[in-house]
Amino acid sequence: MTITYRPAYSSVEDLVPYSAGKPIEEVAREMGLTRIVKLASNENPMGMSPLAVEAMNQAAAGVNRYPDGAGWDLKGKLSERLEVPRENIVLGNGSNEILELLAQLLLTEGDETLYAWPAFVVYRLATLAHGGRGIEVPLDGNLKHDLDAMADALTDRTRIVYVANPNNPTGTCVGRDELERFMDRVPENVPLVLDEAYFEFARHLDDFPDGMEYFRQGRPIVVVRTFSKAHGLAGLRVGYAVMPEPLANLLNRVRQPFNVNSMAQAAAMAALDDNDFVQRGLDHNRKELRRIQDAVESIGLTVTPSFTNFILIDLAGRSGQDVYEGLMKKGVIVRSMVPYGMPGTIRVTAGLSEENDMFLEALGEIIAEFP
Ligand SMILES: Cc1ncc(COP(=O)(O)O)c(C=O)c1O
Repeated sequence: MTITYRPAYSSVEDLVPYSAGKPIEEVAREMGLTRIVKLASNENPMGMSPLAVEAMNQAAAGVNRYPDGAGWDLKGKLSERLEVPRENIVLGNGSNEILELLAQLLLTEGDETLYAWPAFVVYRLATLAHGGRGIEVPLDGNLKHDLDAMADALTDRTRIVYVANPNNPTGTCVGRDELERFMDRVPENVPLVLDEAYFEFARHLDDFPDGMEYFRQGRPIVVVRTFSKAHGLAGLRVGYAVMPEPLANLLNRVRQPFNVNSMAQAAAMAALDDNDFVQRGLDHNRKELRRIQDAVESIGLTVTPSFTNFILIDLAGRSGQDVYEGLMKKGVIVRSMVPYGMPGTIRVTAGLSEENDMFLEALGEIIAEFP
């Protein structure tokens, strides 16, 4: 007998589960390979700060106790750094959890969320998981957010707007003027979620609109950031958001009481003290992205200029799935863009120099195989 279960929202039936990059061990086993590099999940190839390692080791001795559910110390440090009151800060089990909690809190059946497509797939997943309808506005011809078109797509059912800046999977950014124009058009009671997971990689740009500045000026936006990328703590799952206090109070009611574990809190605190580690990673990333871009262009492919730690490569008419599978057979795991509706591209994270060498060599061979 098959048991049937009925989800609270029928939209869950339309949800395609998140496809993470394949684990290294699985590819090694499947392909019978010993050397594998993973350039699929926009992780930090340089590891993490030694200060974070030390803090985690110390925190490990105390894991018989529950963590501080209020995240007092971490919020205190973030509050100082960001110059926003601690009451405006919400911590998450990865920034992903905050994106999801907002949907859980604010959506009922038939409500709309508004976001660009392709953008981070979790906006779609969180929407469908909570009965919502995702209004997906295509990126413009340069694969950037078309914020004017998004503003035109606002309706009286829009409950959340998500804007990834920089965007994943394209690596593109929106500038100040266009974002300000957009913010002026989003109703005050509709949270505009500025997802700044890759903020550190783009903050040096003259025209980069730092969400925190707009928040401090009194805009009722939600600025989401993470320790998973520039700080190298992806496996610990810790992120945060800054938002209007009434919204923070509501989110704190629906989240799990101990959503961020104690080792993650300790490591995140220490990571905030290691600017040198972050800077070394950013310098390495910029150099390697440039090198990948030049090498890829030299074999006749094109890239979307990226302000992140990954790059979207257009395969000049070849199938992204073929190239993805070909690379996998050679021990290089990248991200297929089929789930994002971009079947002629792949997304590659900038790794260590030798990892990128391995990728470039394998890509050259595969491109020659599929003329
Ligand atoms: C745009 C964007 N937002 C959020 C996340 C989620 O990151 P985390 O949950 O690790 O903080 C990612 C991860 O890849 C991302 O690309």
